[in-house]
Amino acid sequence: MSGIGQAVSRLDGPGKVSGRTLYIGDIPLDDVTYAVMVPATRPHARIRTIDLAAATAAPGVIGIFTHHNTPRFGRIDVPLSQPVMPLQDDRVLYEGQPVALVVADTLERATHAARLVAVAYDETPFDADFAADLSRTEVAPAFFGIPPDNAKGDVSAAWSAAEVQLEGVYRTADRHHSAMEPAATLAIWRDGELRIHDATQGVFDARACVAQALHLDPEQVRVSNTFIGGGFGGKGWGWPYQILAAMAARELGRPVKLVLTRAQTFTSHGYQAATHQTVALSAQRDGTLSSIRHDSIVAGSFAGDHVEGAGWDTHALYASPAFSTTHRLRRLHRGNPAAMRAPFGGVGLVAVEIAMDELAYKLGMDPLALRLKNHTDVDPSDGKPFSAKKLRACYEIGARRFGWSDRRAAPRSMRDGRELVGYGMSSLVLRAYRFAANARVSIDRDGAVRIETATQDVGQGLSTVIPQIAADALGVPVDRVSLVLGDTILPVAPFTGGSSATMSVGSAVQDAAVKLRERLIAAGANGPEGYAGALAALNVESLSADGTWAPADPEASPAIFSFGAVFAEVGVDEDIPIPRVRRIVGVYDAGKIMNPKTARSQMTGGVVWGIGQALLERSETDPRLGRFVSKNLAGYLVPVNADIPEINTTFVESFDPHASPLGARGIGELGALGVAPAIANAVFHATGVRVREVPIRPEHLLVG
Ligand code: MOS
Repeated sequence: MSGIGQAVSRLDGPGKVSGRTLYIGDIPLDDVTYAVMVPATRPHARIRTIDLAAATAAPGVIGIFTHHNTPRFGRIDVPLSQPVMPLQDDRVLYEGQPVALVVADTLERATHAARLVAVAYDETPFDADFAADLSRTEVAPAFFGIPPDNAKGDVSAAWSAAEVQLEGVYRTADRHHSAMEPAATLAIWRDGELRIHDATQGVFDARACVAQALHLDPEQVRVSNTFIGGGFGGKGWGWPYQILAAMAARELGRPVKLVLTRAQTFTSHGYQAATHQTVALSAQRDGTLSSIRHDSIVAGSFAGDHVEGAGWDTHALYASPAFSTTHRLRRLHRGNPAAMRAPFGGVGLVAVEIAMDELAYKLGMDPLALRLKNHTDVDPSDGKPFSAKKLRACYEIGARRFGWSDRRAAPRSMRDGRELVGYGMSSLVLRAYRFAANARVSIDRDGAVRIETATQDVGQGLSTVIPQIAADALGVPVDRVSLVLGDTILPVAPFTGGSSATMSVGSAVQDAAVKLRERLIAAGANGPEGYAGALAALNVESLSADGTWAPADPEASPAIFSFGAVFAEVGVDEDIPIPRVRRIVGVYDAGKIMNPKTARSQMTGGVVWGIGQALLERSETDPRLGRFVSKNLAGYLVPVNADIPEINTTFVESFDPHASPLGARGIGELGALGVAPAIANAVFHATGVRVREVPIRPEHLLVG
């Protein structure tokens, strides 16, 4: 069987593992030229002069663009895109900002000539060190439609009256997406129209950005892609490199390919901004929370308005009668940050869930019992019931699978040979981001089914799950279904991010497939065997149906969130305190699971990333130079196989009709949630050292 709920293997797998899949940078094209960006080497400066003599004389150079000869771009108003346009004036606001674009007939020649561009700067004072001065902040702008502050009840009265109080400061590091595929754009200008192949998570967002910047009608711009080699938020929305490639193609009348270097991926499409979070919890002696205060100072940019919404989902975690969350933005001379899997709550849970562990110790309570004590079936912010919450079952199954009851309460009380062993856990919550989507499903007389929708595959399993949904509705095998995606000529679909694609696009595909089936039945088909006869009776070669889906008015809906629980076991050598993760158990509540195999892969990947967040990933900024120190995968640590232990994940399934007609909520970012705090809590249990920041490094544990 191949319908919903079946463990179908990745339909896109064979092409990817055999190297047949073409990514944007691989697309062959005659007459193509190569563009290389020259990045600013200063974080804040004015360009005094740019000497192009040597670069212009270099072999193969076709064109060089600087702020002197680049056309004026239009303002872009695509939410979350970087508003500061490239090559418009002499101002530099971040290291890595493009200050010139060199186009040549080969990549090597373009790279060589780009190095010959000589830029002289008048330096101006800069502020690129987040932690240096946390007093200079501003109230964060509303972001993604979410206001910076949210509160209910009287937090300070509850705090003052409480029997137990706990307050701590928690920090998370700057992190970079580090997708395997560097972002790439291939721009072709022909007959007044722009054709762009781009590794974007949102073809319509990219189209809007390019059209607005180049003063074009969106109808003059077509953006497409097939597969994306990892996006994780970095390839969402619009960035200067796409606009530059499109501009150069138009100005030169030649196709232009621009592939970011690995170093440029660290400065050209965002990163997860560092945070400094204060969490204050108050409770009664029995563990009942009376208030939660979560104040976040987050790193931002003078080049954009990204806000790392660390506290956005905090209110939905526990049954506290009073809560308050705030976000303050500290703008820096660094590039605009971006969403990065798992953004927002993925960062905030580190603070809140370590604080909960600390509170459990302060109360002398089991950390899981403290979570259960404060379980809520309604969203405390508005009293609305959750759509289909199964968190209690997640705790129960997770604790059993993990063997939580074997845990001895006292820190440093468990060991295995030379290693101190610790058990830690975390809850997790993720709001359901959902967006309107459209799709078309067709069938021909051979029984071949074709889905068309402008969604993007970012490597998450969508290219398998979406065909399964259509196969299920039509009652045909999945190998009869093909998917055409990632193109602005297709039915409009949202950007792929925020764990929204299956809910949003999948529901539109289901709607189209159901309508198509109804038409086939109306034309005489009794079932799948009768489809060809129905087409013959209608005297058509193929038949199609358009489907659509949009989320219901949130005011009229219950609170739609996914939940889960993560349990971690770590081992820490007593003399060389490098924490090693020994086991992770994750249990997730995300509604109906479309494909248990791809879903499990998603969770596994997320947990691996959570281990990176806990122990490895940190982009260090050099305070003297105002730049990220290691713009490569040698200096930016991500987990390798040797870092990854047994990962055991499962779902508590339910059908959530409020989230989507499929009963599904999103899972993409779920696996990356709760892992880092669970590991931090396990490290405390193992060592007795409380580390309130991630990544946890050996030096944090070298005490006493
Ligand atoms: Mo996700 S960080 O919205 O790609």
